[in-house]
Amino acid sequence: MTIQSVDKEVAGTLGKRIISFARSPLFQGAAQVLHAPNPYRRMLVPDSLAEADFDRPPGAGQWAAHRSLAAHRLLGTFYEADTVLLPEQGLDGLHEDFGLFYGSGLRELRESSVSALERFAFACLDDAVDVSGATTPEVLDAYFQHVVAEAENGPSPALTAIAGARDRESAADLYLVQLALDGLTEASAMSRNLAGAYGPEQSALFKIFIDEFGYGVYDAKHTTIFAKMLRSRGMATHVHAYWNFYLAGPLATNNYYYYLSRDHAKFFRYAGAVTYAEAVFAPAFVEMVKVFREIFGDEVDLHYCDEHAHIDEHHGRITREQVLLALAERHGPRVVPELMRGVAEARLVGGWFEDDTAAQIRWADGLARHRELAGTVRLESAPPRRVVLTPDSPFGTRGHDDAMVLEVERGEAELITTPTGPPERLVRGDVVLIPAGRLYGVRSAAPESAYLLHTAAPDG
Ligand SMILES: [Fe+2]
Ligand SMILES: [Fe+2]
Repeated sequence: MTIQSVDKEVAGTLGKRIISFARSPLFQGAAQVLHAPNPYRRMLVPDSLAEADFDRPPGAGQWAAHRSLAAHRLLGTFYEADTVLLPEQGLDGLHEDFGLFYGSGLRELRESSVSALERFAFACLDDAVDVSGATTPEVLDAYFQHVVAEAENGPSPALTAIAGARDRESAADLYLVQLALDGLTEASAMSRNLAGAYGPEQSALFKIFIDEFGYGVYDAKHTTIFAKMLRSRGMATHVHAYWNFYLAGPLATNNYYYYLSRDHAKFFRYAGAVTYAEAVFAPAFVEMVKVFREIFGDEVDLHYCDEHAHIDEHHGRITREQVLLALAERHGPRVVPELMRGVAEARLVGGWFEDDTAAQIRWADGLARHRELAGTVRLESAPPRRVVLTPDSPFGTRGHDDAMVLEVERGEAELITTPTGPPERLVRGDVVLIPAGRLYGVRSAAPESAYLLHTAAPDG
């Protein structure tokens, strides 16, 4: 058997396992756009999974591809099933879902596919960074300082998109939702690196961890103050109300830290990545405060951002001196390339977060223009796909690998592209261009509606 045919078989088995996992009643979605306060249920859009080719890992520029979004939704669910999630209102009425989510059936499917799914989702990182020059702690530190300065000085694409949006409030909420993915379960990945025995570096990491947990005071825990920020915007605070709106880039960013933390062969990479993250958070939150104050004035509670603007300056220093450089000193030049790889990958993945969020803000904010553009694109000659919906159909969001033109054939529909913005009403004959990789969902506003999806021909 050749390596290629083994790979093919693994991918085939992976696809089957993933589809059986996603067919669980927990992952079929509901008619509502937001998920109810039940952390075990999340829409995995099982019908769209069959389209995803798990033989073909997304390449370097394909982090927003349909199969990438599908893979990261699954991975995020796998990882969170290894953490303790309980609903704030208590388990009453949810005991069965609890049993199913953590039960042996889904666990076996997760355990037998997680490694292959991780390889699929993160394979594109392997060749994306070059650490061949990382030979000494000095080279590592110089590179680290360089990329942190670059992040500090460069504008945030997502915040720039918010500031330039017509509907800045909805754009800002869309950004908050991307932060909620980590914000509502903060430091869960980090917790997996605390066990064991690895000297003073372990204590330095633990110091950061307990800060994230408010030193054991629930009201000071970062997740608690994150929820306060959402509440001040009138938004839901439960895990994961806004599941349908998490984008592939932010999902990949969140999953990346779990991916490194699940496999301690990647511990040094984790140390590099967490050091980068802690160092760039403080200036990013300073920037976010400016943009959000400008839009909402004093109406929004930004304690979460102020806290991070302050404490992550401290965390950035501790991780650099007492984790990154200390590990390089103690364990010698052989660990330096891995530490550097973590820094470089975290920077790259952080860029996916920013670019995806910015692109989604611009598309959701420019639907009028995308209606016009739909009339100007050339369509593939292949017959369009027809989707029929009723108001009771489960709501799910997705994206496509190619630009598509959505055409309402029958009834009336709502196109939903943001968590809090007004839906775009579409009547029979209306068309909208959906750029490749953009997230959207459709609800029927009539007893029955149908729409067609035409693939746009590539430019040229
Ligand atoms: Fe934090
Ligand atoms: Fe921090």
